Amino acid sequence: MGFVSLGKSGLKVSRACLGTMTFGNTEWGTDESESQRIVDTFIDAGHNFIDTADVYNAGVSEEFVGRAIAKKRDGVVLATKGYNTMGDGPNDRGSSRVHLTRALESSLRRLGTEYIDLYQLHNWDHDTPIEESMATLDGFVRSGKVRYIGCSNFYGSQLVEAQWAADRQGGAPLVSLQPQYSLIWRDIELDILPTATRHGMGVIVWSPLGGGMLTGKYTKRDDLPADGRLSRGSDMEAEGMRMLTLTDRNFEIVTEVSKVAKDLGATPTAVSLAWLLNRPGITSIIIGPRTVDQLDQNLAGFELALPLDSAKGLSRISRPSVSYPWYMQLQM
Ligand SMILES: NC(=O)c1ccc[n+]([C@@H]2O[C@H](COP(=O)([O-])OP(=O)(O)OC[C@H]3O[C@@H](n4cnc5c(N)ncnc54)[C@H](OP(=O)(O)O)[C@@H]3O)[C@@H](O)[C@H]2O)c1
Repeated sequence: MGFVSLGKSGLKVSRACLGTMTFGNTEWGTDESESQRIVDTFIDAGHNFIDTADVYNAGVSEEFVGRAIAKKRDGVVLATKGYNTMGDGPNDRGSSRVHLTRALESSLRRLGTEYIDLYQLHNWDHDTPIEESMATLDGFVRSGKVRYIGCSNFYGSQLVEAQWAADRQGGAPLVSLQPQYSLIWRDIELDILPTATRHGMGVIVWSPLGGGMLTGKYTKRDDLPADGRLSRGSDMEAEGMRMLTLTDRNFEIVTEVSKVAKDLGATPTAVSLAWLLNRPGITSIIIGPRTVDQLDQNLAGFELALPLDSAKGLSRISRPSVSYPWYMQLQM
């Protein structure tokens, strides 16, 4: 299994990154023994990159990951994130020096490790000057508690602001961006991905299967499978995700993915991941399996040789709509 550099950094990561958002969710997620099996299967298959966050299941994901990799810590590139709300106090959220410092110490404790390989800002903080956040992250790197820093969910101009702040302060740059990207969410191609590429950042993408839509298990809006992320819940957030994801356009994309999969004797899951793997500027794909079976099906996507014609056909049918000024500049 090959490894690639994370952006301009010297850090080598596998193209598959194991996402652990389901670890420790007691209602629908992955219990500790299945989490351990997922981690072991992933590492035994030759991959080294694992992503978590303090906020995933109120810290339990970090605890499961920490225990699962304890005996193999140095062979793992461990990524986590801070920023999200972790308490009721005014300083229990955001990217201020106070909160990030506390968030890092808590992550290190939960993960049972002395260092994080990649520490990421989970989101942009509109209340904190980016200079303060970048200086704090640089301090983490200088202290040895963090090896590299990155961010998630920033848009193009925010990436530039962060990198320029680091440059002005002589601090460590962000080596990576973690955005959403899949056949049904291609918005990053307009501005975010070209900006990240221009700044030499590695790009590690989340929700590569659109939360499960691209597995092909959702076929009709009014006949949802009993056991699926998009079937669960009746609150506004769950309804909102269904409205955004289970659209006519997305069902058309899934139909095309399923056709390609049938022709190749593969699964829609594998085809969707193989398409992403071949997109320009993408370093690694963060998969989010809930079970070992799902992990095996996801990993097959990293072995699948997707014919160029099939990839082009999928790119055509899933092309994102382009608004001004991008249509003046892009050739998509
Ligand atoms: N930075 C951020 O803001 C951010 C946001 C979201 C996620 N992430 C990271 O990205 C990772 C992946 O995101 P994601 O979980 O949304 O990825 P995804 O691949 O789009 O969706 C994964 C979900 O799809 C379903 N699934 C996966 N493989 C399947 C298969 N073979 N057959 C049937 N169903 C299958 C499972 O849900 P069900 O079985 O429950 O349907 C699984 O949990 C997360 O773990 C997390 O580390 C980061």
